Formats: sequence, structure tokens, C-alpha cells
Amino acid sequence: MTEPSSSPPVKSQQDAPDDDDYGMSLPALVVLRVSVMFIELFTRLADVLLLLRRPRLLPSYLGIWLREVFVSPYRLKQSFEVRRVLQASGQILKELMYGEMPVHTGVWLFWKAGLGPGSRLVDLGAGRGRTLLAARWLGAEAVGIELMQHHVALARKPVEAAGARLVLGDAMQADLQDATHVFTNWTALTPQTRARLVERFRTCRPGTRILTVTRPVEAPGIAVVSKHRLLFTWGLEHVWIHEVSDRVVGDTTN
Ligand SMILES: C[S@@+](CC[C@H](N)C(=O)[O-])C[C@H]1O[C@@H](n2cnc3c(N)ncnc32)[C@H](O)[C@@H]1O
Repeated sequence: MTEPSSSPPVKSQQDAPDDDDYGMSLPALVVLRVSVMFIELFTRLADVLLLLRRPRLLPSYLGIWLREVFVSPYRLKQSFEVRRVLQASGQILKELMYGEMPVHTGVWLFWKAGLGPGSRLVDLGAGRGRTLLAARWLGAEAVGIELMQHHVALARKPVEAAGARLVLGDAMQADLQDATHVFTNWTALTPQTRARLVERFRTCRPGTRILTVTRPVEAPGIAVVSKHRLLFTWGLEHVWIHEVSDRVVGDTTN
């Protein structure tokens, strides 16, 4: 993921300490910030216009947005609590880097993946729950699993008002048995963490659609259905839709 918003992405302790502005020159940084500002304006406008067709979801959307204005999800301080949570999940700070899928992107992607009334989307690493509103727009059930308590505490109420759920928890332990669609914006995750998540995907029922951002799932029994290039808060990004085949459940041999 590139810079997610008007502030630089969270840096891990492993990053070089003197790596100011991620090694970018000043002109490059200015161009990046200006483009992110335009993306923010465009995506917010597109989201609101789309949500006018589902006015019941609009207060939730505006509530989540307002909370982002007051408490940015893009700035994360290394508190004792953050370190404790990372230690428990076996991850590093860089993996908490933030970025969102706009609602209009989500509606198109989820529709393309066949989500609708009677479906159930699980977002692994749901952040403040913006994607859940896209699933609700399509009439599907939506549950988000998020590791960071401060995201959940801030967004839980407006998400619930939209008829979705935002749950505090580790994606590696999520129950995916009832999911028809699993979405994960795993751009910032390390290969090790992604591999653990793929093991989780293997617990899904055959036919479950798995949607990943930036990188596909490369595992037997999880086949790519289609690939797309869509707009996220940090720019254009590839997204893959996969399907879990009949053979994947419990089968780790092939
Ligand atoms: C890039 S944000 C994506 C937010 C949202 N899914 C979207 O696309 O709009 C990734 C989120 O995953 C969360 N995360 C990272 N590791 C996690 C884990 N093991 N379990 C649950 N959430 C996790 C981070 O805290 C962050 O909020």
C-alpha cells in the first residue's frame, strides 16, 4: 500500500530510523499528497451520491467519516496496548498500515463477486467498517473482524446502525463457516501473515468467494475467478476474486 491519506503510513520499528518521508523527494511527496487529496474528494463524493440511493445507510457513513475527521485512522501511536496486541497476533507494526476501500468500489466489486440478499460477507481486517456499508448496500449480511480496539470502539455504533457488525478479534481465528464471501485488504500484511490467513481460507465452505487486494491467493483449491483494477483511498489497486473449490476443505496435500 502506498501512502493511505494525508499523513504518512505507519512505520514499523524495523524501518530505517533516518528514512525520512520514506525516502521520497519533496516534489514526489507533494505530488503524492495532492493526488491522495483528489482521490479523497472524488471517492467521498461518489460514495455519498451512491448512498443517496440507500438513504438508511447515509447516517452511518457520515458517522464513520466524521469520526475519521476527528480521530484519524492513519496515525497510530506505538502504545503498550498496540505492542501487546501485535505480540499476541504475531505481527509487526507495519501490518497495521491503514487504507480503505470506498463504498462505490466495494459495491461494484461485491456485485461482481455475486454478493446480494442471502449472502454473508466477512471482512478480515475491517478497520472502521467502510466496506461493510457496501455489502449492506447490496442487501447482504456483513461482519467485520478488526484487531485494533480503537477502530472498533469508534466505528461499532454507526456500523451497527447500518445493520452490520464490527467485531474485535484476530482474523487468524475468524470463523468463516457461514461466510459466502470473504474480503481482505491484506496489502500491508507480511508473507508469513498472509500464509496464515490462507490457512484460514481453507476452512471456508466450497463455493465461498475470497476477495483479496494487491495480491492474489496462491494456494491449491482456491482458484482465481477474475482480476480487476479498482480505486482505493491510496490509488488504483488490483483486486482478485477467487472461489474455494470442493477439494480445499481439510485438504492440504494438493
Ligand atoms: C488496510 S486496512 C483495511 C480496512 C478495510 N478492510 C477496508 O478495506 O476499507 C487493514 C486493517 O486490518 C487490520 N488488521 C491487521 N491485522 C489484523 C488481524 N490479524 N486481525 C484483524 N485485523 C487486522 C488493521 O488494523 C487495519 O485496520
